[in-house]
Amino acid sequence: MDCKCVVIICVFLLSATLVEGYAVPRGNRCSCKKNSSKINIMAMEKLEIHPRSSTCERVEYIATFKNVPVPICVNADLLEIKVLLTGKNRHLKHIKVIRH
Ligand SMILES: *[C@@H]1O[C@H](CO)[C@@H](O)[C@H](O)[C@H]1NC(C)=O
Repeated sequence: MDCKCVVIICVFLLSATLVEGYAVPRGNRCSCKKNSSKINIMAMEKLEIHPRSSTCERVEYIATFKNVPVPICVNADLLEIKVLLTGKNRHLKHIKVIRH
């Protein structure tokens, strides 16, 4: 096992709490089986909002975090997400919000 691999595994373990809500690639079902109940909004880089579709009857919020190798599903009811979506918090201005 080379160094790079060890680093990747460490990052993965450190982010294990976030990984519980990981998104699976959108196929013929919803991407999110489970939402992450805890997020670190300051580490968020991107939030993608997928509307209801013929393949998934739920609106899905999928976020990308710094140092987390997989996208994470989050619940729009989280206070952090509500604040982000108002667009009024200057600390969160760097986060890209993409509405599909
Ligand atoms: C996850 O959060 C989204 C956005 O709030 C919601 O539409 C969806 O029903 C939630 N999914 C689960 C599995 O709770």
